[in-house]
Amino acid sequence: MRTLKTAESARAAARGLARPLGLVPTMGALHAGHRSLLDRARRENESVAASLFVNPLQFGPDEDYSRYPRSFESDAAQFESVGIELLYAPSVDEMYPPSFSTSVVVGEIGRTFEGAVRRGHFAGVATVVAKLLNAIEPTRLYLGQKDIQQTAVLRRMVRDLDLAVEIVVCPTVRESDGLALSSRNSYLDELQRVAAPSFHRALAALAESIERGADSNAALTAARLLLEPPLSWEYLAVIDPLTFELHEKLRRPALVIGAVRAGSTRLIDNVVVKAADGVDPILTPPLLQAAGRG
Ligand code: PAJ
Repeated sequence: MRTLKTAESARAAARGLARPLGLVPTMGALHAGHRSLLDRARRENESVAASLFVNPLQFGPDEDYSRYPRSFESDAAQFESVGIELLYAPSVDEMYPPSFSTSVVVGEIGRTFEGAVRRGHFAGVATVVAKLLNAIEPTRLYLGQKDIQQTAVLRRMVRDLDLAVEIVVCPTVRESDGLALSSRNSYLDELQRVAAPSFHRALAALAESIERGADSNAALTAARLLLEPPLSWEYLAVIDPLTFELHEKLRRPALVIGAVRAGSTRLIDNVVVKAADGVDPILTPPLLQAAGRG
């Protein structure tokens, strides 16, 4: 594995790698969710690159940029153990030199839900991912369903800007009690951690109600009540999986999304309600060319 710190050196190295080339962008503090993306990229591509960069542009002024967990040595060891070819780990100055002033702003889909609570967040994500795509020029970009609105925003950016990359969305990896793995789970205190699985239970219960064809207001109210203190709702909504517009009436396919607060920590999660024919509107099925390969 080569670790490179400039876009120029990373691009030169990436151009020497066999195609297809998968890219897994991360902010480090790796957990089993990140590893599932890396393993899948490994299975489906000839070469794999990852990036490790805690992106200041996607954190608001009152957010956790300075205390975001940083563990370069153990992250590097994990990237190495997956057997990736290239790790791009630029400094903030390399990514954003002093006169840096360009921003990629994706429209309405980046302004609702997470975009409404975290103003400027998705412009920060889209800008850094556009730069990572330009530095590495991958065939495929691997993203987690955990951050579902991020995948929708990046899908829109790739389509609108004619970027030549295929997006692969991988399922959310959870603890055995249902809590979605997240680097931010380390912020939870004992009480918050005990209550945290009730968040996923509430989303799953709402998804089930939609599958049964329940009345929307009653289903939403019942699901809201399942959240245990000290967690509190920021939002809970049933939306169209592709446009992120609210479903006025519960119907399938749909996406149940939510955000909760646990003290100063925010948790996000989502559950898909598949179409009646069983097709998942979010996940990318494993790629065919991987069949038969170890
Ligand atoms: P980060 O939070 O480090 O996540 C990197 C990737 O791992 C994202 O695609 C995210 O959706 C995925 N991921 C996180 N938790 C997961 C889980 N429990 N199961 C499956 N996948 C999971 O997301 C970012 O970084 C940044 O916004 C980034 C895209 C790197 C841009 O800075």
